[in-house]
Amino acid sequence: MFELPKKEEIFNHGIPSTPDDITEIVIKAMGRTENSRLREILQALVKHLHAFGREVKLTEEEFMMAINAVTELGHLTRDKHNETMVMSDALGFSTLVNILNQDRDPEQMSPALLGPFYTRKDPEYPNGFNISRDKPKPTDIPLFVRGKVVSKNGTPLKNALVEVWHASPEGLYDNQEPAQPANNLRGKFRTDEAGHFNFRTIRPASYPIPTHGLVGRMLAAQNRHPFRAAHLHFTVSADDHSTLVTQIFPKDDLFVESDCVFGVTSADLAVDFPEHTDGNAPEPDVTGTYCTLDLTFDLSPGESRLPQSPINA
Ligand SMILES: [Fe+2]
Repeated sequence: MFELPKKEEIFNHGIPSTPDDITEIVIKAMGRTENSRLREILQALVKHLHAFGREVKLTEEEFMMAINAVTELGHLTRDKHNETMVMSDALGFSTLVNILNQDRDPEQMSPALLGPFYTRKDPEYPNGFNISRDKPKPTDIPLFVRGKVVSKNGTPLKNALVEVWHASPEGLYDNQEPAQPANNLRGKFRTDEAGHFNFRTIRPASYPIPTHGLVGRMLAAQNRHPFRAAHLHFTVSADDHSTLVTQIFPKDDLFVESDCVFGVTSADLAVDFPEHTDGNAPEPDVTGTYCTLDLTFDLSPGESRLPQSPINA
């Protein structure tokens, strides 16, 4: 049995006089939401959702397709795959939210999306460690990354935490491909007294996002390719500084200007990965071609807070 609310507790939002009144009435019905931020968000959502329905004159058939699409996003989402997040990415919405929340000056390194494969379980390694744990393939190009973490005013930050993760040259993260060793191409490093860190890996390649579901069908319908420009993901954090979440792209990647999730949020994130054939690699086992990458991460003073992992990896 249910209990009826008391008459004096009921807020009468009224009945539409014309079909156009429905939006205003729904917004009015939500007007007593006590949490003011929740009220603002939901009322704006109704305003824009209704305007969208009106603008495209959504048919009942299309409405059911939309309901089924949202349902499918949920059904396709698993511990290790978040289709809802991939859809938000492919709609450019994740990037929009990322840009809206930038609290950084134009001269500072730009932030970029966290992406769906961040996990906070990566091990911490000493500087210089090779995070490529898979058996080396002849096509792998060793990549030596050297970097510095500084505060906005240029002061080096010691003991800053640098988390890095990226896909294999085949375009798969370790948690997408059981054949890869656990924590392949992932790791955490700490800066030394002078704010420096360094590690070894292999040059990442561009890769397609998962296309087995709704997002794949949407991209195909829009005649869009599903590729991301090659990239390394980073989070950089230090005490009393805002955590920087970003991605670094090789400037010469084929997809820098057509990244399917609009992930290259700013031109400063596309940088040189110089290639060397001088036989002077930082480690003696590397005798052929290798790449280097030099980075400076600058953090703004603020609260250090690591993001949540979008997957249960
Ligand atoms: Fe990624």
